[in-house]
Amino acid sequence: GIPTQNLHAQETFNYDETKVGTYTLPPLLQTPDGKKITTTTQWNNIQRPALLKLFADNVYGRLPGKPKGLHFKVTSEDKEALGGKAIRKQITIYFTPADTGASMDVLLYLPKQAKGPVPIFAGLNFKGNHTVHTDPEIKITSRWVAEDKNAGITGNKANENTRGLQASRWVVEEILTRGYGLATAYYGDLEPDYPEGYKTGIRTQLSKSLQIQPNEWGAIGAWAWGMSRIMDYFETDPAINAKQVALQGHSRIGKAALWTGANDTRFAMIISNESGEGGAALARRWYGETVARLNSAFPHWFNPNYKKFNDKPNQLPVDQHQLLALIAPRPLYVASAQEDQWSDPKGEFLSAQAVGPVYALFSKKGIETPEMPGLNQPVGETVRYHNRSGKHDVTLYDWQQYLDFADKQFSNKQ
Ligand code: GCU
Repeated sequence: GIPTQNLHAQETFNYDETKVGTYTLPPLLQTPDGKKITTTTQWNNIQRPALLKLFADNVYGRLPGKPKGLHFKVTSEDKEALGGKAIRKQITIYFTPADTGASMDVLLYLPKQAKGPVPIFAGLNFKGNHTVHTDPEIKITSRWVAEDKNAGITGNKANENTRGLQASRWVVEEILTRGYGLATAYYGDLEPDYPEGYKTGIRTQLSKSLQIQPNEWGAIGAWAWGMSRIMDYFETDPAINAKQVALQGHSRIGKAALWTGANDTRFAMIISNESGEGGAALARRWYGETVARLNSAFPHWFNPNYKKFNDKPNQLPVDQHQLLALIAPRPLYVASAQEDQWSDPKGEFLSAQAVGPVYALFSKKGIETPEMPGLNQPVGETVRYHNRSGKHDVTLYDWQQYLDFADKQFSNKQ
Protein backbone atom coordinates (compact mmCIF):
# COMPACT_ATOMS: atom_id res chain seq x y z
CA GLY A 1 0.00 0.00 0.00
CA ILE A 2 0.90 3.68 -0.13
CA PRO A 3 2.15 4.87 3.25
CA THR A 4 -0.18 7.54 4.65
CA GLN A 5 2.73 9.79 5.68
CA ASN A 6 3.63 10.30 2.01
CA LEU A 7 0.35 12.01 1.36
CA HIS A 8 -0.19 15.63 2.27
CA ALA A 9 -3.19 15.81 4.56
CA GLN A 10 -4.67 18.35 2.16
CA GLU A 11 -4.67 15.91 -0.71
CA THR A 12 -6.48 13.18 1.13
CA PHE A 13 -9.72 14.97 1.90
CA ASN A 14 -11.41 18.30 1.34
CA TYR A 15 -14.40 19.97 2.97
CA ASP A 16 -14.18 23.24 1.08
CA GLU A 17 -16.69 23.45 -1.76
CA THR A 18 -14.68 26.23 -3.43
CA LYS A 19 -11.74 23.86 -3.83
CA VAL A 20 -13.65 21.11 -5.59
CA GLY A 21 -12.45 22.29 -8.98
CA THR A 22 -13.87 21.47 -12.39
CA TYR A 23 -14.14 18.07 -13.98
CA THR A 24 -15.72 16.35 -16.96
CA LEU A 25 -17.43 13.04 -16.35
CA PRO A 26 -16.84 10.19 -18.79
CA PRO A 27 -19.95 9.85 -20.97
CA LEU A 28 -22.65 7.30 -20.22
CA LEU A 29 -24.06 6.96 -23.71
CA GLN A 30 -20.86 6.86 -25.69
CA THR A 31 -18.53 3.87 -25.81
CA PRO A 32 -14.87 4.21 -24.79
CA ASP A 33 -14.04 4.19 -28.54
CA GLY A 34 -16.53 6.94 -29.34
CA LYS A 35 -19.68 5.13 -30.57
CA LYS A 36 -23.04 6.62 -29.58
CA ILE A 37 -25.40 4.39 -27.60
CA THR A 38 -29.02 5.06 -28.52
CA THR A 39 -30.89 1.80 -27.88
CA THR A 40 -31.36 -0.62 -24.99
CA THR A 41 -29.86 -3.38 -27.13
CA GLN A 42 -26.70 -1.34 -27.65
CA TRP A 43 -26.62 -0.57 -23.95
CA ASN A 44 -27.02 -4.22 -22.95
CA ASN A 45 -24.71 -5.69 -25.59
CA ILE A 46 -22.00 -3.06 -25.97
CA GLN A 47 -21.83 -0.40 -23.27
CA ARG A 48 -22.78 -2.48 -20.25
CA PRO A 49 -20.09 -5.15 -20.75
CA ALA A 50 -17.51 -2.47 -21.68
CA LEU A 51 -18.16 -0.53 -18.47
CA LEU A 52 -18.20 -3.67 -16.33
CA LYS A 53 -14.79 -4.57 -17.67
CA LEU A 54 -13.40 -1.09 -17.02
CA PHE A 55 -14.60 -1.24 -13.41
CA ALA A 56 -13.17 -4.73 -12.97
CA ASP A 57 -9.80 -3.76 -14.47
CA ASN A 58 -9.38 -0.40 -12.77
CA VAL A 59 -11.39 -0.36 -9.57
CA TYR A 60 -12.82 -3.54 -8.02
CA GLY A 61 -11.07 -6.43 -9.72
CA ARG A 62 -12.61 -9.38 -11.48
CA LEU A 63 -15.58 -11.16 -9.88
CA PRO A 64 -15.57 -14.94 -10.26
CA GLY A 65 -18.78 -16.89 -10.88
CA LYS A 66 -20.70 -19.43 -8.85
CA PRO A 67 -18.39 -22.20 -7.64
CA LYS A 68 -18.98 -25.84 -8.46
CA GLY A 69 -20.10 -27.73 -5.40
CA LEU A 70 -21.85 -24.74 -3.81
CA HIS A 71 -24.47 -26.12 -1.48
CA PHE A 72 -26.68 -25.15 1.44
CA LYS A 73 -27.56 -26.57 4.81
CA VAL A 74 -30.43 -25.30 6.91
CA THR A 75 -28.96 -25.51 10.41
CA SER A 76 -32.03 -24.31 12.32
CA GLU A 77 -35.63 -23.41 11.65
CA ASP A 78 -38.18 -21.92 14.04
CA LYS A 79 -41.74 -21.14 12.95
CA GLU A 80 -42.49 -19.24 16.14
CA ALA A 81 -39.58 -16.83 16.29
CA LEU A 82 -39.75 -13.27 17.67
CA GLY A 83 -42.78 -14.03 19.80
CA GLY A 84 -44.60 -15.80 16.97
CA LYS A 85 -44.22 -12.98 14.45
CA ALA A 86 -41.56 -14.59 12.31
CA ILE A 87 -40.08 -17.69 10.83
CA ARG A 88 -36.35 -17.79 11.51
CA LYS A 89 -34.01 -19.92 9.46
CA GLN A 90 -30.25 -20.15 9.69
CA ILE A 91 -28.49 -21.51 6.66
CA THR A 92 -24.86 -22.28 5.99
CA ILE A 93 -23.74 -21.74 2.42
CA TYR A 94 -20.76 -23.94 1.59
CA PHE A 95 -18.60 -22.74 -1.28
CA THR A 96 -17.09 -26.15 -2.05
CA PRO A 97 -18.49 -29.71 -2.16
CA ALA A 98 -17.26 -30.40 1.38
CA ASP A 99 -19.17 -29.50 4.54
CA THR A 100 -15.98 -28.00 5.91
CA GLY A 101 -13.93 -25.05 4.76
CA ALA A 102 -15.12 -21.88 3.10
CA SER A 103 -18.70 -21.01 4.02
CA MET A 104 -21.00 -18.26 5.19
CA ASP A 105 -23.85 -18.25 7.70
CA VAL A 106 -27.09 -16.62 6.61
CA LEU A 107 -29.77 -15.47 9.06
CA LEU A 108 -33.21 -15.28 7.51
CA TYR A 109 -36.44 -13.89 8.96
CA LEU A 110 -39.72 -14.27 7.10
CA PRO A 111 -43.01 -12.65 8.10
CA LYS A 112 -45.24 -15.26 9.70
CA GLN A 113 -48.38 -13.86 8.07
CA ALA A 114 -47.05 -14.36 4.50
CA LYS A 115 -49.33 -16.26 2.14
CA GLY A 116 -46.87 -16.90 -0.67
CA PRO A 117 -43.23 -16.30 -1.58
CA VAL A 118 -42.13 -13.00 0.00
CA PRO A 119 -39.97 -10.16 -1.29
CA ILE A 120 -36.75 -9.83 0.66
CA PHE A 121 -34.27 -7.24 1.82
CA ALA A 122 -30.77 -8.67 1.92
CA GLY A 123 -27.42 -7.32 3.00
CA LEU A 124 -24.21 -8.03 4.85
CA ASN A 125 -23.66 -6.87 8.41
CA PHE A 126 -20.52 -5.50 10.09
CA LYS A 127 -20.36 -7.37 13.40
CA GLY A 128 -22.03 -10.75 13.09
CA ASN A 129 -25.61 -11.98 12.60
CA HIS A 130 -26.25 -11.95 16.34
CA THR A 131 -25.82 -8.16 16.37
CA VAL A 132 -28.85 -7.45 14.15
CA HIS A 133 -31.40 -8.50 16.80
CA THR A 134 -31.42 -9.52 20.48
CA ASP A 135 -33.06 -12.87 19.49
CA PRO A 136 -31.18 -15.37 21.72
CA GLU A 137 -31.29 -18.13 19.11
CA ILE A 138 -29.07 -16.39 16.56
CA LYS A 139 -25.77 -18.19 16.21
CA ILE A 140 -22.84 -16.12 17.47
CA THR A 141 -20.09 -15.89 14.92
CA SER A 142 -16.85 -17.64 15.81
CA ARG A 143 -14.88 -15.68 13.22
CA TRP A 144 -12.55 -12.74 13.62
CA VAL A 145 -14.42 -9.56 14.52
CA ALA A 146 -12.99 -6.07 14.90
CA GLU A 147 -12.04 -4.91 18.39
CA ASP A 148 -14.66 -2.66 19.97
CA LYS A 149 -13.76 -1.76 23.54
CA ASN A 150 -17.01 0.21 24.08
CA ALA A 151 -19.03 -2.84 23.13
CA GLY A 152 -16.78 -5.18 25.11
CA ILE A 153 -15.36 -6.95 22.05
CA THR A 154 -11.76 -7.85 22.81
CA GLY A 155 -9.40 -10.48 21.44
CA ASN A 156 -11.29 -10.25 18.10
CA LYS A 157 -14.00 -12.55 19.46
CA ALA A 158 -17.75 -11.96 19.44
CA ASN A 159 -19.66 -12.59 22.66
CA GLU A 160 -23.18 -12.93 24.15
CA ASN A 161 -23.20 -9.32 25.34
CA THR A 162 -23.15 -8.06 21.78
CA ARG A 163 -26.51 -9.54 20.78
CA GLY A 164 -28.55 -6.78 19.20
CA LEU A 165 -25.60 -4.35 19.17
CA GLN A 166 -26.57 -3.10 15.70
CA ALA A 167 -30.31 -3.72 15.93
CA SER A 168 -31.09 -0.07 15.22
CA ARG A 169 -29.51 -0.52 11.80
CA TRP A 170 -31.73 -3.47 10.82
CA VAL A 171 -35.23 -2.75 12.18
CA VAL A 172 -36.28 -6.38 11.77
CA GLU A 173 -39.84 -5.98 13.14
CA GLU A 174 -40.53 -2.98 10.91
CA ILE A 175 -39.42 -4.93 7.82
CA LEU A 176 -41.51 -7.98 8.77
CA THR A 177 -44.62 -5.93 9.58
CA ARG A 178 -44.41 -4.39 6.14
CA GLY A 179 -44.54 -7.86 4.58
CA TYR A 180 -40.88 -8.33 3.67
CA GLY A 181 -38.32 -10.85 4.76
CA LEU A 182 -34.77 -10.01 5.79
CA ALA A 183 -31.61 -11.99 5.11
CA THR A 184 -28.19 -11.07 6.39
CA ALA A 185 -24.72 -12.53 6.78
CA TYR A 186 -21.52 -11.33 8.43
CA TYR A 187 -19.11 -9.76 5.94
CA GLY A 188 -16.19 -11.25 7.87
CA ASP A 189 -17.31 -14.72 6.76
CA LEU A 190 -15.99 -13.71 3.34
CA GLU A 191 -12.99 -11.67 4.36
CA PRO A 192 -11.93 -10.26 7.70
CA ASP A 193 -11.60 -6.51 7.18
CA TYR A 194 -7.91 -5.72 7.67
CA PRO A 195 -5.03 -5.56 5.20
CA GLU A 196 -3.86 -9.16 5.79
CA GLY A 197 -7.39 -10.51 6.13
CA TYR A 198 -7.35 -12.00 2.64
CA LYS A 199 -5.01 -14.71 3.89
CA THR A 200 -7.79 -16.37 5.85
CA GLY A 201 -10.66 -15.16 3.65
CA ILE A 202 -12.19 -16.62 0.53
CA ARG A 203 -9.78 -14.83 -1.83
CA THR A 204 -7.09 -17.18 -0.63
CA GLN A 205 -9.25 -20.16 0.32
CA LEU A 206 -11.01 -20.30 -3.05
CA SER A 207 -8.32 -19.10 -5.43
CA LYS A 208 -7.79 -22.62 -6.81
CA SER A 209 -11.43 -23.62 -7.17
CA LEU A 210 -12.44 -20.25 -8.60
CA GLN A 211 -9.32 -19.98 -10.75
CA ILE A 212 -8.64 -16.43 -9.65
CA GLN A 213 -5.68 -15.01 -7.77
CA PRO A 214 -6.19 -13.11 -4.49
CA ASN A 215 -4.85 -9.88 -6.07
CA GLU A 216 -7.31 -9.97 -8.97
CA TRP A 217 -10.09 -8.84 -6.66
CA GLY A 218 -10.14 -6.99 -3.36
CA ALA A 219 -12.05 -7.36 -0.13
CA ILE A 220 -14.92 -5.39 -1.67
CA GLY A 221 -15.02 -7.95 -4.46
CA ALA A 222 -15.10 -10.79 -1.92
CA TRP A 223 -18.02 -9.20 -0.07
CA ALA A 224 -19.81 -8.51 -3.36
CA TRP A 225 -19.36 -12.11 -4.47
CA GLY A 226 -20.80 -13.37 -1.18
CA MET A 227 -24.02 -11.42 -1.73
CA SER A 228 -24.52 -13.25 -5.02
CA ARG A 229 -24.15 -16.55 -3.20
CA ILE A 230 -27.00 -15.51 -0.89
CA MET A 231 -29.05 -14.97 -4.05
CA ASP A 232 -28.10 -18.52 -5.14
CA TYR A 233 -29.73 -19.69 -1.93
CA PHE A 234 -32.85 -17.54 -2.42
CA GLU A 235 -33.41 -19.22 -5.77
CA THR A 236 -33.77 -22.56 -4.01
CA ASP A 237 -36.14 -21.48 -1.21
CA PRO A 238 -39.83 -21.58 -2.21
CA ALA A 239 -40.76 -19.23 0.65
CA ILE A 240 -38.78 -16.43 -1.04
CA ASN A 241 -39.65 -14.43 -4.13
CA ALA A 242 -36.17 -14.38 -5.68
CA LYS A 243 -37.41 -11.94 -8.34
CA GLN A 244 -38.06 -9.31 -5.67
CA VAL A 245 -34.84 -9.05 -3.75
CA ALA A 246 -33.63 -5.61 -2.65
CA LEU A 247 -29.92 -5.59 -1.81
CA GLN A 248 -28.97 -3.03 0.82
CA GLY A 249 -25.48 -1.99 1.89
CA HIS A 250 -24.09 0.66 4.22
CA SER A 251 -20.79 2.42 3.72
CA ARG A 252 -18.02 0.01 2.66
CA ILE A 253 -20.67 -2.68 2.33
CA GLY A 254 -22.64 -0.18 0.23
CA LYS A 255 -19.69 0.05 -2.16
CA ALA A 256 -19.77 -3.75 -2.35
CA ALA A 257 -23.57 -3.86 -2.81
CA LEU A 258 -23.32 -1.54 -5.82
CA TRP A 259 -20.63 -3.74 -7.34
CA THR A 260 -22.82 -6.81 -6.72
CA GLY A 261 -25.80 -5.13 -8.33
CA ALA A 262 -23.75 -4.03 -11.33
CA ASN A 263 -22.66 -7.62 -11.97
CA ASP A 264 -25.61 -9.66 -10.82
CA THR A 265 -28.86 -8.63 -12.50
CA ARG A 266 -30.84 -11.14 -10.43
CA PHE A 267 -31.07 -8.46 -7.72
CA ALA A 268 -34.23 -6.48 -8.48
CA MET A 269 -33.30 -3.38 -6.46
CA ILE A 270 -30.10 -1.90 -5.06
CA ILE A 271 -29.82 0.40 -2.06
CA SER A 272 -26.66 2.35 -1.35
CA ASN A 273 -26.65 3.78 2.16
CA GLU A 274 -23.86 6.36 2.46
CA SER A 275 -21.45 4.33 0.33
CA GLY A 276 -19.31 7.41 -0.38
CA GLU A 277 -15.96 7.31 -2.16
CA GLY A 278 -15.54 4.13 -4.20
CA GLY A 279 -19.34 3.75 -3.96
CA ALA A 280 -21.96 6.20 -5.16
CA ALA A 281 -19.88 9.40 -4.82
CA LEU A 282 -18.16 10.83 -7.88
CA ALA A 283 -14.40 10.24 -7.78
CA ARG A 284 -13.62 13.33 -9.84
CA ARG A 285 -15.37 15.61 -7.36
CA TRP A 286 -12.60 16.39 -4.92
CA TYR A 287 -14.68 16.55 -1.74
CA GLY A 288 -14.83 14.46 1.42
CA GLU A 289 -12.76 11.28 1.19
CA THR A 290 -10.54 10.93 -1.88
CA VAL A 291 -9.32 7.95 -3.90
CA ALA A 292 -5.83 8.49 -2.40
CA ARG A 293 -7.13 8.36 1.16
CA LEU A 294 -9.31 5.35 0.43
CA ASN A 295 -6.41 3.37 -0.99
CA SER A 296 -3.95 4.33 1.73
CA ALA A 297 -6.29 3.65 4.66
CA PHE A 298 -7.77 0.48 3.12
CA PRO A 299 -5.13 -1.01 0.82
CA HIS A 300 -6.98 -4.35 0.69
CA TRP A 301 -10.36 -3.16 -0.58
CA PHE A 302 -9.79 -2.58 -4.30
CA ASN A 303 -7.88 -3.92 -7.26
CA PRO A 304 -4.20 -2.81 -7.15
CA ASN A 305 -4.70 -0.80 -10.38
CA TYR A 306 -6.99 1.60 -8.55
CA LYS A 307 -3.96 2.95 -6.66
CA LYS A 308 -2.57 4.31 -9.93
CA PHE A 309 -5.29 6.93 -9.83
CA ASN A 310 -4.71 8.04 -6.24
CA ASP A 311 -3.61 11.52 -7.20
CA LYS A 312 -5.32 11.71 -10.57
CA PRO A 313 -8.95 10.59 -10.37
CA ASN A 314 -9.48 12.69 -13.51
CA GLN A 315 -7.62 10.03 -15.43
CA LEU A 316 -9.75 7.12 -14.26
CA PRO A 317 -11.38 5.60 -17.36
CA VAL A 318 -14.64 5.48 -15.39
CA ASP A 319 -16.45 7.46 -12.73
CA GLN A 320 -18.98 6.23 -10.20
CA HIS A 321 -22.10 7.45 -12.04
CA GLN A 322 -21.26 4.73 -14.57
CA LEU A 323 -21.35 2.15 -11.79
CA LEU A 324 -24.82 3.37 -10.83
CA ALA A 325 -25.84 3.20 -14.49
CA LEU A 326 -24.99 -0.51 -14.48
CA ILE A 327 -27.98 -1.00 -12.16
CA ALA A 328 -30.36 0.32 -14.89
CA PRO A 329 -33.18 -0.27 -15.54
CA ARG A 330 -33.64 -1.71 -12.05
CA PRO A 331 -34.74 0.52 -9.16
CA LEU A 332 -31.84 2.18 -7.38
CA TYR A 333 -31.86 4.10 -4.10
CA VAL A 334 -28.91 6.29 -3.12
CA ALA A 335 -29.01 7.72 0.41
CA SER A 336 -26.72 10.23 2.09
CA ALA A 337 -26.61 11.80 5.56
CA GLN A 338 -26.01 15.48 6.09
CA GLU A 339 -23.41 15.14 8.84
CA ASP A 340 -21.57 12.49 6.84
CA GLN A 341 -19.62 14.93 4.68
CA TRP A 342 -16.84 12.34 4.45
CA SER A 343 -19.12 10.40 2.04
CA ASP A 344 -19.81 13.60 0.03
CA PRO A 345 -23.63 13.78 -0.07
CA LYS A 346 -23.52 16.17 -3.02
CA GLY A 347 -21.21 13.88 -4.99
CA GLU A 348 -23.64 11.01 -4.28
CA PHE A 349 -26.59 13.12 -5.44
CA LEU A 350 -24.86 14.28 -8.62
CA SER A 351 -23.88 10.77 -9.56
CA ALA A 352 -27.40 9.39 -8.96
CA GLN A 353 -28.84 12.35 -10.86
CA ALA A 354 -26.48 11.79 -13.81
CA VAL A 355 -27.81 8.33 -14.68
CA GLY A 356 -31.20 9.66 -15.85
CA PRO A 357 -30.41 9.33 -19.59
CA VAL A 358 -29.62 5.62 -19.19
CA TYR A 359 -32.90 4.97 -17.37
CA ALA A 360 -34.64 7.05 -20.07
CA LEU A 361 -33.40 4.59 -22.71
CA PHE A 362 -35.55 2.03 -20.86
CA SER A 363 -38.46 4.52 -20.61
CA LYS A 364 -37.88 4.96 -16.88
CA LYS A 365 -37.44 8.17 -14.96
CA GLY A 366 -34.51 8.90 -12.69
CA ILE A 367 -34.11 12.09 -10.68
CA GLU A 368 -35.44 14.99 -12.68
CA THR A 369 -34.49 17.83 -10.36
CA PRO A 370 -31.05 19.36 -10.99
CA GLU A 371 -30.68 20.74 -7.46
CA MET A 372 -30.05 18.69 -4.35
CA PRO A 373 -33.31 18.25 -2.43
CA GLY A 374 -33.75 19.60 1.09
CA LEU A 375 -33.08 17.43 4.13
CA ASN A 376 -35.31 14.37 4.51
CA GLN A 377 -37.02 14.98 1.17
CA PRO A 378 -36.64 11.94 -1.08
CA VAL A 379 -36.70 12.69 -4.82
CA GLY A 380 -36.75 10.63 -8.01
CA GLU A 381 -38.78 7.82 -9.50
CA THR A 382 -36.87 4.66 -10.49
CA VAL A 383 -33.68 6.26 -9.17
CA ARG A 384 -34.36 7.76 -5.79
CA TYR A 385 -32.25 9.86 -3.43
CA HIS A 386 -32.43 11.38 0.02
CA ASN A 387 -30.15 13.33 2.30
CA ARG A 388 -31.15 12.45 5.84
CA SER A 389 -30.37 14.72 8.75
CA GLY A 390 -27.88 13.20 11.16
CA LYS A 391 -24.78 11.08 11.15
CA HIS A 392 -23.16 8.25 9.18
CA ASP A 393 -25.52 5.41 10.15
CA VAL A 394 -28.56 3.41 9.04
CA THR A 395 -31.73 4.57 10.76
CA LEU A 396 -35.43 3.78 10.90
CA TYR A 397 -36.00 6.80 8.63
CA ASP A 398 -33.71 5.28 5.99
CA TRP A 399 -35.51 1.94 6.16
CA GLN A 400 -38.94 3.55 5.95
CA GLN A 401 -37.90 5.20 2.66
CA TYR A 402 -36.54 1.88 1.33
CA LEU A 403 -39.74 0.07 2.31
CA ASP A 404 -41.93 2.73 0.66
CA PHE A 405 -39.75 2.56 -2.46
CA ALA A 406 -39.99 -1.24 -2.56
CA ASP A 407 -43.80 -1.09 -2.06
CA LYS A 408 -44.00 1.10 -5.13
CA GLN A 409 -41.48 -0.73 -7.30
CA PHE A 410 -42.62 -4.22 -6.34
CA SER A 411 -46.21 -3.24 -6.96
CA ASN A 412 -47.34 -6.82 -7.55
CA LYS A 413 -45.99 -7.72 -4.11
CA GLN A 414 -48.12 -10.32 -2.32
C1 GCU B 1 -14.29 4.76 6.43
C2 GCU B 1 -13.92 4.84 4.98
C3 GCU B 1 -15.17 4.94 4.09
C4 GCU B 1 -16.15 3.84 4.45
C5 GCU B 1 -16.44 3.88 5.93
C6 GCU B 1 -17.34 2.77 6.45
O1 GCU B 1 -14.78 6.00 6.87
O2 GCU B 1 -13.06 5.94 4.78
O3 GCU B 1 -14.80 4.83 2.73
O4 GCU B 1 -17.31 3.95 3.68
O5 GCU B 1 -15.24 3.75 6.64
O6 GCU B 1 -17.36 1.67 5.89
O7 GCU B 1 -17.99 3.01 7.48
